Amino acid sequence: MADLDSLRTEAEAAIAAAGSSAELEELRVRYLGRKSELTQTLRSIGELPPEQRGPVGKQANQARVALESLLEERTRELRDAELERRLVADRVDVTLPGDPPEPVGSLHLITQTRREIEDFFVGMGFLVEHGPEVEWDYYNFTALNYMPGHPARMLQDTFYLSADVLLRTHTSPMQVRVMEAHEPPIYYVFTGKTYRRDNDATHTPMFHQCEGLAIDEDLTLGDLQGVLLAFARSMFGPERAVRLRPHFFPFTEPSIECDVSCFQCGGSGVLRDGSRDPLCKGEGWLEILGAGMVDPNVLGFVADNGYDPERWQGWAWGMGIERIAMLKHGVTDLRMFFDNDLRFAEQFR
Ligand code: PHE
Repeated sequence: MADLDSLRTEAEAAIAAAGSSAELEELRVRYLGRKSELTQTLRSIGELPPEQRGPVGKQANQARVALESLLEERTRELRDAELERRLVADRVDVTLPGDPPEPVGSLHLITQTRREIEDFFVGMGFLVEHGPEVEWDYYNFTALNYMPGHPARMLQDTFYLSADVLLRTHTSPMQVRVMEAHEPPIYYVFTGKTYRRDNDATHTPMFHQCEGLAIDEDLTLGDLQGVLLAFARSMFGPERAVRLRPHFFPFTEPSIECDVSCFQCGGSGVLRDGSRDPLCKGEGWLEILGAGMVDPNVLGFVADNGYDPERWQGWAWGMGIERIAMLKHGVTDLRMFFDNDLRFAEQFR
């Protein structure tokens, strides 16, 4: 029985010190295997004198059960430690850049420019809406003071889907839509796609516009000029000036076009080497948009929505987003925006 005691102590120490599953397996064979001292002892209990069989058998069995559970426990410990080691070694740092390390996609220059414009006007307190690209003739023309058969309807070659449904030729139809939905005062910007039957270096059948509409009780063209000056400076640099020239649109009265002083020649029309600035064609000014005071006739279409033309007045502008992007980034052919040539697109990541 003293032998069994020391055998158990020895085995327990060996199992506790084992460093791998292979070592543990060896110990299992040595101490609990068929040829082990313990197994032999248990087998030969019957050969002992009867009064010893009970105590020896009991002690041997206790040793076997204790060693088995110790082995099991140690096996689990080692397995867990091995798993832990493997997890640490295999750890993936998801914050590292992927492969390829450069982002695969990026925003199109037109999207970037649209967002930059929207951000500016949101900062000035305008709300942003987009509106439908498939539009009623009513909103695109009629409610914007284009008389039926008015030649101005021909100024914008239109894609018609049916007699009175078309692809909007500008974002101006959103003026009446938003006034139908919201009472004055309102300050809105409308951005999105517009369509005209045109296709050359300066016109594509689909293009983007950003429209502004502000209606309040005492707005003047001076307020519009201030807003456009702040916009021009944010977009083209703090030195810029703007000028307003008389123009015509059916839905504004008076109507204007707005130019920004040329940022390539500083407004002189002449480059440093004395040659004519090709960007502004020697003018010193770049046209950026059309605008004007909203015609009272347009407010007349929404008079029942709270727009009494005797009380409310305001202005609207409409600019081409492609044109802003071309001027700002020196893009010379509008069609490059939509050719999907990565050599072009990737320059504006
Ligand atoms: N809708 C006009 C165009 O596309 C631009 C414009 C908008 C003019 C608002 C005046 C007021 O040419």
